[in-house]
Amino acid sequence: MAKTSLSPHIEEESYANKQMGLFPPTRYMGSKSKLLEHIWNASSQFKFNTVIDLFSGSGVVSYMYKTHGKAVISNDYMAMGGVITKALVENSKTILMPDEVEKLTDMSTDTDSFVADTFNGIYYCDEDNHFIDVVRSNISRMGDPYKKAIALEALIRTCIKKRPRGIFTYVGDRYNDGRKDLQKSFYDHFVDAVNIINEAVFDNGTICKSYNMDSMEFNEAADLVYIDPPYYTPKSDNEYVRRYHFVEGLARDWKGVEIQEHTKTKKFKSYPTPFSTKDGAAQAFSSIFERYADSILVVSYSSNSLPNMEDMISLLKKYKNKVDVIPIDYKYSFGTRNTVKRNDVKEYIFVGA
Ligand SMILES: C[S@@+](CC[C@H](N)C(=O)[O-])C[C@H]1O[C@@H](n2cnc3c(N)ncnc32)[C@H](O)[C@@H]1O
Repeated sequence: MAKTSLSPHIEEESYANKQMGLFPPTRYMGSKSKLLEHIWNASSQFKFNTVIDLFSGSGVVSYMYKTHGKAVISNDYMAMGGVITKALVENSKTILMPDEVEKLTDMSTDTDSFVADTFNGIYYCDEDNHFIDVVRSNISRMGDPYKKAIALEALIRTCIKKRPRGIFTYVGDRYNDGRKDLQKSFYDHFVDAVNIINEAVFDNGTICKSYNMDSMEFNEAADLVYIDPPYYTPKSDNEYVRRYHFVEGLARDWKGVEIQEHTKTKKFKSYPTPFSTKDGAAQAFSSIFERYADSILVVSYSSNSLPNMEDMISLLKKYKNKVDVIPIDYKYSFGTRNTVKRNDVKEYIFVGA
C-alpha cells in the first residue's frame, strides 16, 4: 500500500509529542506537565525562534519548547532546576555509558561521608547514605559538564523516589506506605534514572542554554518569554527550597549554604525571592514585564494567587497593547494517594503581545 504523506505541520506535532513522551515524569511542585498543550497553543499563534523559560522548575516546559524546535534559554534560581535543564535542554548529544555508571556506583570509593554524618538517621538508612556519598564523590571528579548533570539528575531522582511523598519537610518514615519505589534499591533506582534520562537526550538543531540565576537579575533576550513564578497566596506554602532542601543541597553539594543545625530536617535558609509577598510579587512582575516589553509574554497564573487577575492584566497592559487571558479548568490535587482533595482553582495563561 502506498504510504500517504502527512503535512509538515502534522509531522512536526507528532514528532514533538513523541519526544515529549520521553521526558522523565516529575512531581515537582507547580509543574506544568499537565498544561503543556495549553502553553504551546498560546505560544504557537506567534512566530518565534528563541524562548526564555524564566522559572524553569522541573524543566518540563523548556523541554516542550525544545521538542518544537525552539532555541530555549532555561533559568531557575534552584541549582536542581539548573541540573535537569543542563542534562536535557542544553545537552543535545551526551549520554552516560554503562561502564561510567558502574564507576560512579563503585562502593569502595573513598568519600567525605558528608551525607552519612550530617543526615544520619534522618531520611535514609546508613547504606543508602553511603551510596549517596559514593556517587557524590565520583560525580565531583567528572570533567564533562553534561555527563555530570545526567549523573546528578539521576541521583536527585533516586533520592526523590526513595523518599515518601518526595519531599524533605519532615523527618522519619511516617508516610512510608510500602509502595514499590520505596522497596527498590538505591542502585536500581539510579540505573533506571540514568537510562530514562539518556533516552530523553535529543538534538533539535538549535543551541539551547541552561542558567541558574535569580530571575530578577537575568538579562538574556528572546522572542518569547514564558513566566511561571511561585504563586503567592496567604494560605499556601510556595517555598521550594524548604520542600526540596536535601536534593537542592545535593545539586550544589551544599556549597555556599549554611545548614541550620538546630532544625530537625537540617535544612538551610530559603533563597530570598520577591514572590513570597503580594507587593513583592506585583513589583517583580512589573519589572519583568518592563524588561521584556519587546518580547511576547506568556504568563502562567492561578485564580487564587495575589496579585489577582485584574491587577495582573493592568500590569501587563502597561507594557503590551494586546493582552489575552486564556482560562483553563484545572484541578490541583493535594495529599497522599488515599486522601486526595481537589481544589477548584482556575489556571490562567496571560498572553501579552
Ligand atoms: C511554579 S515553579 C515553575 C514550574 C515550572 N514551570 C514547571 O513546569 O516545572 C516556580 C519556580 O520558580 C523558581 N523561583 C522562585 N523565585 C525565583 C527567582 N527569584 N529567580 C529564579 N527562579 C525562582 C522556583 O525555584 C521554582 O522552581
